[in-house]
Parts: sequence; C-alpha cells; structure tokens
Amino acid sequence: MKTLQDVDKTRVPRHVAIIMDGNGRWAKAKLQRRIYGHQHAMQAVHEATEAAAELGCEYLTVYAFSTENWNRPQEEVEGLMELLIKAVIEETPTMMKNNVRLETIGDTSRIPKRSLDYLNRAIEETSKNTGLCMILALSYSSRWEIAEALKGIIADAQKGLITPDQVTEETIRPYLATRNYPDPDLLIRTGGELRTSNFLQWQMAYTEFYFSDMLWPDFRKPDFYEAICEYQRRQRRFGKTGDQVEAENQQS
Ligand code: FPP
Repeated sequence: MKTLQDVDKTRVPRHVAIIMDGNGRWAKAKLQRRIYGHQHAMQAVHEATEAAAELGCEYLTVYAFSTENWNRPQEEVEGLMELLIKAVIEETPTMMKNNVRLETIGDTSRIPKRSLDYLNRAIEETSKNTGLCMILALSYSSRWEIAEALKGIIADAQKGLITPDQVTEETIRPYLATRNYPDPDLLIRTGGELRTSNFLQWQMAYTEFYFSDMLWPDFRKPDFYEAICEYQRRQRRFGKTGDQVEAENQQS
C-alpha cells in the first residue's frame, strides 16, 4: 500500500483528471439502489481532493456528471442533483480548511436552480483560495465543449475578429471550457472500463492514463498515491524520442 512518503514531491502532476466509475456496480453488489453507490462515492471524492491538495497538485478535474448522464433514469438524475447540494454543503468547510478553490466546467444551465444556487455559493465562497483548484465537470462532454468552441469561433469570425488562417491549436484554446487550466498530466479511471467516455478529449492528447479495476466508492488516499507513483514511472515523450527526452532532462 502506497503512502505520501512514496511519492516524489518534485515530480507531482500539475493536473489530475478522474473518471469516477463503478458507483452503480458497488451498490448492486450490496443489493442497494444505484444512488447508494453515489452517496458512498463522496468519501472517495473527499480523499482524492485532500490527497491532491497535500501533494501540491494544482488542478483536479472530476467527471461528476456527463452530458449523456441526463439520459439516466429520472430517479438517479434527481438523486445526483440532490447529492450535489449535500456535497457542497459538507465539503465547503474542508475546501476552506485546505485552501481549495471550487470551479466547474460544463453546461450548468441544465442544472436545477436549487442545486446550482448551492454550487454557485460554494464557488463564490472558495474563490479566493489559492491552493488546489477542484474542477467539477458537470453536464460536461468533450463533444459539447468542442461544439461550443466552434460556435464561439464562428461568431467571432462573423464579427471579423478571427480569420480561418488564424485558427490554430493556440487560438482554439480560449474558446474551450478549460481555457484557464493546463492539460491534464494524468487521467485516473476506476471501475475497470478502458475508455475515456467523452471526457477532455482535446485536452488529453498527451495525458498519461491510469486504469484501475477498483470501484470508485472504495478509492482512498493510498490508491491516489499508487496512481501518482505509476505516473512517475512513465517517461513522457510528447512525440520526441526517449534519447531526446533524457538529454533534455540532463540539461535541466
Ligand atoms: C459513474 O459511476 C459515476 C457517475 C456517473 C457519477 C459520479 C458521481 C459522484 C462521484 C458523486 C458526486 C456527485 C456529484 C453530482 C457531486 P456509474 O454510476 O456509471 O457506475 P457503474 O458503471 O457501476 O454503473
């Protein structure tokens, strides 16, 4: 079992993204309704956030609710929206204690007003914190984000603010929901599925992937440290050769 001491503090990923999968199966194994799994997922969110903050990660993005999740049974969607309220009420004091700033990406206009009000209050309350930025991906999908970015670019093109030859990787970035964040260095996905599920597709071009069979409600700090240690064993080449990367590392 990995501990905080096992992590090399000089090479901590700036940005960790998490697909928190397996809540439904966790509940089913206990002969409970799916929402029971989501309720028990909160402790795992709490521990991952604390671990990321303690390690000095700058950004943690968690996939709390995808665009496609609106198609789940009404009872589950309503349960998740209520859980969002409980989560922000219970977690805001811990975020304040740990200097964590809460932000969101996604089409939050679809979130019920009561849940959104609580969420916005927590965002406001934590907005001056300078430590870890905890980003809730809510009503988010990459295809939604890319479609929104295209709308923005076309609107600006119509106003004469951008021309087709000015469209580059760099000029696209300000139109993305993640414009203020660096790309994730590490993606953790629990629940045993080997896919990215419409999450940060543009941003994860060079992200390291870590898949775990563990179901999300069982995920604890040592599991987060394990993922970070595995990340630290990887060589990130960004299309270069291993020799080039080693030479660069020796120079720095
Ligand atoms: C995936 O597990 C999980 C989700 C779709 C929701 C994640 C929600 C939480 C971690 C709780 C916090 C929620 C909010 C809104 C703050 P799954 O249900 O797809 O699991 P399964 O693959 O076992 O069915």
